[in-house]
This record gives sequence, structure tokens and C-alpha cells, in this order.
Amino acid sequence: MDLAKELLELFTARKMAKAFFVNSGSEANDTQVKLVWYYYNALGKPDKKKFIARTKSYHGSTLIAASLSGLSALHQKFDLPAPFVLHTDCPHYWRYHLPGETEEEFATRLANNLEELILKEGPETIAAFIAEPVMGAGGVILPPAAYFDKIQAVVKKYDILFIADEVICAFGRLGYMFGCDKYNIKPDLVSLAKALSSAYMPIGAILVSPEIIEVIHSQSNKLGVFSHGFTYSGSPVPCVVALEALKIYKERNIVDVVNKIAPKFQDGVKAFSDSPIIGEIRGTGLILATEFVDNKSPNDPFPPEWGVGAYFGAQCEKLGMLVRVAGDNIMMSPPFIISPEEVDELISIYGKALRETEKRVQELKSQRK
Ligand SMILES: Cc1ncc(COP(=O)(O)O)c(C=O)c1O
Repeated sequence: MDLAKELLELFTARKMAKAFFVNSGSEANDTQVKLVWYYYNALGKPDKKKFIARTKSYHGSTLIAASLSGLSALHQKFDLPAPFVLHTDCPHYWRYHLPGETEEEFATRLANNLEELILKEGPETIAAFIAEPVMGAGGVILPPAAYFDKIQAVVKKYDILFIADEVICAFGRLGYMFGCDKYNIKPDLVSLAKALSSAYMPIGAILVSPEIIEVIHSQSNKLGVFSHGFTYSGSPVPCVVALEALKIYKERNIVDVVNKIAPKFQDGVKAFSDSPIIGEIRGTGLILATEFVDNKSPNDPFPPEWGVGAYFGAQCEKLGMLVRVAGDNIMMSPPFIISPEEVDELISIYGKALRETEKRVQELKSQRK
């Protein structure tokens, strides 16, 4: 109860009424789907059952969370996604904008595509839209200008719930307490995990709006209780660790800490953007990705067998730094307590690994000729 109270006070993008505890981000998103279905059944709208997520999103690995995710590796050979999940455009401006299209025009096009999808499927069948404020595992993809304003307008128009998957973004990662604060998102439901306990204990949570709770409470006599939960939901030790993490975030003013160090990190790494093997370095706060491509073009990937991303990762490792390698995308999300000296070291290792990788690509290209 203490932790629920803390979370409800901390989340101010809009008023939330209840917190429900789970053990992971995947369980949070599975719980969202069941809660939304229960809600629409309670409302007497049993046809409103489909979910719209986005290509390249990551929402977890359980059956429903993997279905919501928009990464093909999570679907192939697993008979996923489940049929109630639809995927709309990935909002990656660099990769998908048309020639001459501004960020805002790109966002308008994506919002129009979302509306078309809703109309094609029938708005009366669409239950909810789920989005990470910044896409994480899909490659650290920041929304283009005005994207969430436009998307929220469409979702609202058709009476579709908005679920903010804050599993990565919450608690300071973007330089705001929540991604919803940064992008002015007013969600109906929020998924939390990871930094909720600074990842020292497995715990996740969902936050639920007062309107949804009211419907569920008013109808549960008829429908029966919301029969969903886990042995370790709200288990005391993870809750105490989460409370302590939140206390430390407050004491150390973690959002300010992130904002103080983030420019050094972002500008330092982005200074390598001119490298001939880098297409884009993108990020905000303490999360960043580097995408390796040829000719600086999203349409010219390196041959996968060259393993350019893996080579860069191996060079970093040799120099004492672990980075996340996903194909030719490299992701970094350093701890909030990283010091200026450690950022210097990170940038220095990054630079050395990059030079080695550039040489390697040159060699591979000359072998191909
Ligand atoms: C945005 C997002 N949602 C959900 C999940 C799933 O969380 P977990 O690994 O705790 O199940 C992740 C994990 O990386 C995530 O990044």
C-alpha cells in the first residue's frame, strides 16, 4: 500500500487511481490486456478487444507481451502474434520519412495511417493502443515532433484506451520522471518495471485511471472479481526495495542528476556521427543507439555476415566496456550515477572501437572488390 501510494503521487501526467503489482514488465503488459478486456466486458462493449501496437516496439516475452511487440524475431517460429494484435507504423523518422517530408509531416502521415487502420478494422473492435514513449529494444527510437499529440488525438476520437509502456522510460531515464511527462502523454494505463526497484528486485506495476477503476468496481458484482494475480504480486521484499529506490531517486534528485550528465554523454557520442559507417546516432537522457549502415543511408545495410555491430561490440568488450548489440544497432543506457570521468572513458572506448570497426569495414570492402 505504501508503494502504491508513492507511485500514484509520483505519476502526475494525469491522475491515476490504483496500482497493481506484478513481477516484470512482461507481466505488466499481459495484465494490461486482461484488465482492458475485463473493462470492456464490464462496459457492455464485448466486441472492443483488439490491440494496436507499433512495428519495432518491445513489450516483453510472455505470449501476450511478445504478441504486442513488433519485432519479427519474437514472432517467428512461435506462432505469434496472437490474432487480436495489429501493428501500425514505427515512428522512426530517419529510416521511414519520405524525401522532403518534415518530422511533423511524417507524424501526420503516421497518425493518418493509424486512423485508416482503425477505420478498416472498425473502431468498435479496437480496445487499446500501446506505446513506449521512446522505443527501447527496437533501437532507441525517439518519436518525431508532435507525434504523440497527433496519435493521442486519433486514439481519443475513436474511444480507444492509451497504454504507456514506461518499463524503460520511467524514473529518470529520459531526463524526466516519466516518458509521459516528456511527451505530454495522458495515458489511461501505465506499465512500470526495471528502475522501479533500480532492477535489484523483480517487481513491476500497472497504474490504472480512475475511470477504468470505476467501471471495474461498479460491474464486478455482476462479472465476478478481477481474477488475475501472481503469488509474488506485491511481495514485501521487492516492495520495500522499490520504496527505497524511489526514496533515493527523490533524495538525490535523480532527474536533475540525469539532466546534468546527459548532455556530456549524448554530445560526446554524437560527435562521432560523421563516421562513414554510421547512419544515425540517436538518443535522449541516458539512452542512446548507434546504427551502422553504408553510405549513411538507412537503405544500405551492411551484409549481415559482416557482423559490423558485433565487431564493434567485441572491440568495446576488449577495452572493458559492454554494449548491447542488436544486429548493426548498438544500444547504451548507462547507470544514472555515471560520473563525468566515466563518461569520458565511455566516449574514449567508443571512439577507439569505432576506428577499429571502420578499418574492418574497409578491409571487408576491399576483399569484396
Ligand atoms: C518497454 C518494455 N516493456 C516491457 C519489457 C519487458 O519487461 P521484462 O523483461 O521485465 O519482462 C521490456 C524489457 O526490456 C521493455 O523494454
